[in-house]
Amino acid sequence: MSAVRVRPARPDESAILAEMANNLNDYVGIHGRPFTPERVRADGFGPEAAFTPLVAELDGAVAGYVFFGTGYNTDIAARAMWLHDIFVIPAARGRGVGHALMAAVAAETVRMGGGSLEWGVHSANAGALEFYARLGAVGGEAKIMGVAGARLRALAGL
Ligand SMILES: CC(C)(COP(=O)(O)OP(=O)(O)OC[C@H]1O[C@@H](n2cnc3c(N)ncnc32)[C@H](O)[C@@H]1OP(=O)(O)O)[C@@H](O)C(=O)NCCC(=O)NCCS
Repeated sequence: MSAVRVRPARPDESAILAEMANNLNDYVGIHGRPFTPERVRADGFGPEAAFTPLVAELDGAVAGYVFFGTGYNTDIAARAMWLHDIFVIPAARGRGVGHALMAAVAAETVRMGGGSLEWGVHSANAGALEFYARLGAVGGEAKIMGVAGARLRALAGL
């Protein structure tokens, strides 16, 4: 029987987190590989962290991760958790690692008094949609939009 353990990531795991985060981007068709160990260390650890990283170990080896952070759900006027990323290495899929990671983030959401846990998923990612459905997740009609880079600066009038 495989043993899955979810725990906070350590700063000395920034390189493997960057590798997995870039592999997730590649998987969903974003090919710039923007993560570096330094970026993960700066944005995922310490008092100024922008997100919280957890890792899942399968039989003692890192097999996946999540990045998440706090948000707010104005539909229910309650604190919310936003899941930025979830990824399980291909060799470890289908063995409960993803479920354990999502359960850990859900538990953290409840612990902080949050009313919901939310995330975005590409409509073409059929495997992830099925995975999320098995967890009891329901999809809304809203589409996530954003401005970045030059468009962000232009909107800011810069
Ligand atoms: C999606 C992902 C995180 C699932 O992780 P996992 O460890 O394989 O999932 P689990 O083994 O915990 O599966 C939990 C349940 O979902 C189901 N499931 C998982 N992946 C599935 C798939 N691709 N198709 C159908 N069902 C799937 C499992 O059968 C299981 O169902 P059960 O509870 O009824 O037995 C993993 O496949 C992954 O990293 N995919 C690539 C990255 C990705 O798409 N991330 C999400 C971006 S939004």
